[in-house]
Amino acid sequence: MIASLLSAAAPESVWLPPAASAASAGVDRMFAFIFWTCTFFFALIVGLATLFVVKYRARQSVEPQKTPTHNTRLELVWSGIPLVLALIMFAKSTEAYRGLTELAPGGQVDAIQVTARKWSWWFDHPGGHGANELHVVVGHPVEVTLASEDVIHSLYIPAFRIKQDAVPGRYTKLAFTPIAPGTYPIYCAEYCGTNHSQMRSQVVVHRDRASYDAWIKQVEDASVPLVDVGRTVYLTKGCIACHTVDGTPRLAPTFKASWGRVEKLVDGSSVTVDEAYVRESLLNPRAKLVAGFQPVMPPMPLKEREMLGLFEYLKSLK
Ligand code: CUA
Repeated sequence: MIASLLSAAAPESVWLPPAASAASAGVDRMFAFIFWTCTFFFALIVGLATLFVVKYRARQSVEPQKTPTHNTRLELVWSGIPLVLALIMFAKSTEAYRGLTELAPGGQVDAIQVTARKWSWWFDHPGGHGANELHVVVGHPVEVTLASEDVIHSLYIPAFRIKQDAVPGRYTKLAFTPIAPGTYPIYCAEYCGTNHSQMRSQVVVHRDRASYDAWIKQVEDASVPLVDVGRTVYLTKGCIACHTVDGTPRLAPTFKASWGRVEKLVDGSSVTVDEAYVRESLLNPRAKLVAGFQPVMPPMPLKEREMLGLFEYLKSLK
């Protein structure tokens, strides 16, 4: 029975998203093995307990009999079976875990640096290409180094069955090989403050190098209209987490019709939203805080063209 459970196919699944990394199958098998082992013993124990409670309940006409207080053979059996099961779980889990943190030696590895901060992800791809999404190529092993700029976050990619904390002041590692092209969600799995639940991103698994290179070119392409550059900045650099574009204030003033607006500041003065103010607020968010909002925004140094793009985008939100 154990052998058949160990070799059981990954549950296609109510619980798990489609498996998209080389290590997924091993993790899913472990999950299935532990889940069904626990289910079996839960049913057995609760079933027997219920049966005995009914069968041996106190009855007026029946005197309690002398019963044995222990049985060495029985106790050895019910200690030995869990011990063996726990050892199998330990050995198999260790094997599966190593697949999540170490790559087979040799071969070309894409090294990606991940930086977490409240409340967004930043992925530095090989060649110095930064993006707020993770881009990888099918079949190419990836080694990720994680860092955090503020508090503990945790990079969680359910489709790859991987999760690793990003801890301030130290570097943590993660390794995987994507096996299925597609786009899969990334979550933060460590509670990190107000916008923890918004700290999401995605991993794009390209079907080949050419597709990946096309994306890189797109990142670099300076022929994109400024307003589109600005929209991309808004969507990808974390602005969207706090600034809406539909007029409703979230954790920060809405961007809708913000250009040229006169904002009241916490110190009682006021300021007109223009290039100088937006630039200053990006570099030093606490300098001129709008009344009624908390200073939660991290400094956001943008490239010059990204900043110009953001101005155009704000102007377009009439
Ligand atoms: Cu970052 Cu939760």
